[in-house]
Amino acid sequence: MANVIISGGNGFLGSHLSEKLIKEGFDLTIVDNLSTSKYIQVPNKAKFIKKSIEKFTTNEKFDFVIHLAARPSPEDYIKNPLATIDSNDLGTRNMLEIARKSDATFMYTSTSEVYGDPKIIPIPETYFGYVNPNGIRSCYDESKRFSEALIKAYERQYGLDVRIQRPFNVYGSRIREDGFYGRVIPRFIDQALRNQDITVHGNGRQTRSFLYIDDWIDATRKFLFNKKGEGKVLNIGNYKEINILNLAKLIIKLTNSNSRIIHLKPREEDPRRRAADITNVKKVLNWEPTVTLEEGLEVTINWLKNKNKL
Ligand SMILES: NC(=O)c1ccc[n+]([C@@H]2O[C@H](COP(=O)([O-])OP(=O)(O)OC[C@H]3O[C@@H](n4cnc5c(N)ncnc54)[C@H](O)[C@@H]3O)[C@@H](O)[C@H]2O)c1
Repeated sequence: MANVIISGGNGFLGSHLSEKLIKEGFDLTIVDNLSTSKYIQVPNKAKFIKKSIEKFTTNEKFDFVIHLAARPSPEDYIKNPLATIDSNDLGTRNMLEIARKSDATFMYTSTSEVYGDPKIIPIPETYFGYVNPNGIRSCYDESKRFSEALIKAYERQYGLDVRIQRPFNVYGSRIREDGFYGRVIPRFIDQALRNQDITVHGNGRQTRSFLYIDDWIDATRKFLFNKKGEGKVLNIGNYKEINILNLAKLIIKLTNSNSRIIHLKPREEDPRRRAADITNVKKVLNWEPTVTLEEGLEVTINWLKNKNKL
């Protein structure tokens, strides 16, 4: 069976992908420094190496090299700008070298944040972005943009088979709700289940489009294993937008919560709108999201309720 290496394989997306690949019989190596994941959640059959990807090299050969290691939560990456950059410059370079020496298929999870504060909605892959190169979020979004440039340089110089995906706000079980790491959906659910105030940054009119984890796995597998994915840069997300205030109200309704919504100061350089144009991924991979926000939230609410005994 094919040999796969995943950096960041202990995280939210990585642990779900690892579980799926192990079930399908792949040989799997995971490299993760546990910087943003709280528990070890790699499948038993996977080989686990606790190491920062920017310090990792190997002579082992792989068929697929998947680079997920990064610090994607804004409060966390703003606090750790250099470590955030490391996983996207040195880390990406190390993973590309492993792929080059193995003549492997290389996949990278870039991000919808490469578009910055977009002027076009829904955002097509051809939009070059509206990003502040030295702003507070640049350690994440500019280093992801640099990674994309590095990956394309390997394709042009060595003919490497590279595939870049730009996920848009994925959620589901195992996503962290706590502290600096908590992203908006798990944070709101946790607050709602505890009947605490739901903390909306700014007026809440900023929008996002959310993708359920099962849809992300489906898209990722299709992208990885379909020859048509070679060389492509694809949005993996939802075209349906919801504003953050309405998201908070929906979560209050679905959890039967008594929480109030309170407003905190707006986040610096927070993009005002975000929704994916998925025309390309539909055409190339015959993929589109199938799980509605309500369905995905119900599962995520139950997972968090059981996990935290709420
Ligand atoms: N979840 C989303 O909505 C989303 C959206 C866009 C892009 N992405 C990208 O997908 C990837 C996975 O995100 P996630 O949501 O699973 O995040 P996560 O924080 O749950 O997982 C990231 C994993 O990488 C590890 N890691 C971080 N820096 C590392 C380093 N230098 N060396 C080794 N391991 C390191 C962490 O310990 C963690 O286990 C990231 O590259 C992220 O930028 C995610």
